[in-house]
Amino acid sequence: MNILVIGSGGREHALFWKLSESPQTGHIYAIPGNPGMGEMIDISVMDNDAILRFAKEKEIGLVVVGPEVPLMNGLVDDLEKAGIRAFGPRANAAEIEGSKSFAKDLMKKYGIPTARYEVFTEAEPARAYIRREGAPIVVKADGLAAGKGVIVAMTEQEALDAVDAIMEENSFGDAGARVVIEEFMQGEEASLLAFTDGKVIRPMISAQDHKRAFDGDKGPNTGGMGTYAPAPVMTTEMTERAVEEILKPTIAAMAKEGRPYTGCLYLGLMITSEGPKVVEFNARFGDPETQVVLPLLDGDLVEIMCACADGTLADVPIHWKDGAAVCVVLAAGGYPASYEKGHEITGIADAEAMGALVFHAGTAKKDDALVTNGGRVLGVVGMGADIASAVKAAYNAVDRISFQDAYHRKDIAHRALKR
Ligand code: AMP
Ligand code: GLY
Repeated sequence: MNILVIGSGGREHALFWKLSESPQTGHIYAIPGNPGMGEMIDISVMDNDAILRFAKEKEIGLVVVGPEVPLMNGLVDDLEKAGIRAFGPRANAAEIEGSKSFAKDLMKKYGIPTARYEVFTEAEPARAYIRREGAPIVVKADGLAAGKGVIVAMTEQEALDAVDAIMEENSFGDAGARVVIEEFMQGEEASLLAFTDGKVIRPMISAQDHKRAFDGDKGPNTGGMGTYAPAPVMTTEMTERAVEEILKPTIAAMAKEGRPYTGCLYLGLMITSEGPKVVEFNARFGDPETQVVLPLLDGDLVEIMCACADGTLADVPIHWKDGAAVCVVLAAGGYPASYEKGHEITGIADAEAMGALVFHAGTAKKDDALVTNGGRVLGVVGMGADIASAVKAAYNAVDRISFQDAYHRKDIAHRALKR
């Protein structure tokens, strides 16, 4: 079967790599891809018609959509209409990520545990609510804001300033026409991804992301500086609770609302003293969670994804390997603020020879050299019998790779190591 991956980041490289392993896979393409995935294809992920034409011409049997924006843009809907199998939710189901107010209202209606909240379309009532509730409190732009529309305010003034930035100064454009203001939840965060065909739900192995730029979880938020799996905070009991109290009711709720959800559902969880609560839903795989989850999948990703699309997931058991995986992101110095591009990258083959997986995120080919081309440049994944040995493997591999001004966190998996 020929396969097409949509996207160009580290997550998509990891999907491409795992899909390539399947004995069912014939030719595999990526639009637009990156140098880690071989040949790049010059089609926009937002050009549904061009993607459809490509998929027909190449006789694609499965399209896997990586990022949220093409999902929201109806790519899966259009592929389905054309009779092409696609992994991922339709646009009306991807709304669970695309609109925080939709997600919050859904959880309220169906009793799914999450932070208490109110939605506002005007600034003055939002301010009044903040003054009434006090800090700490969390202010979120409603729409897609590339992970930047969330302000965890430790003081009332910070929260009021966030309302001004989002609603009066339009810092997040249309995404800020509405704001969600919610209760601050105390606890440890974890990511739990699940495969679903709209009826059957199969959780993946848990993971934890490191969103802040600097060691000790300090500094600005980023797209993710590293991950590890499994996350010890997600004990068997906690995972079962997340499945029973969150995943099952959410998938049932989406079906009831006429928005059947298929593909990968990403739960961003806070493990509170009362149990797991939803911080956010994503309608796709996490990045860089995917880079540690898929290496631990003991099975055929093509078979699983086809079953999700075909509604036959009940027939496909899914197994996970023992052991652990750790991903360290190598970033360009300066990221997430401004950074340079075009620096030559060396040492990837050495790192791979040590058994590490190296996923490209922001790279490009220049003449015959591989150069940096983004903020997050590479995801270096080490594996081992436990988190400690996977950490060691990942950092040993990281030490082999260099480019000018390379930056990475030195403390990935610190919470798990401290246990
Ligand atoms: P989100 O984009 O909704 O995942 O939020 C980004 C980050 O903000 C999360 O990963 C959390 O660290 C933090 N956050 C969001 N909502 C809350 C909340 N209600 N309580 C505490 N922290 C939160
Ligand atoms: N790693 C967080 C995300 O993918 O949204």
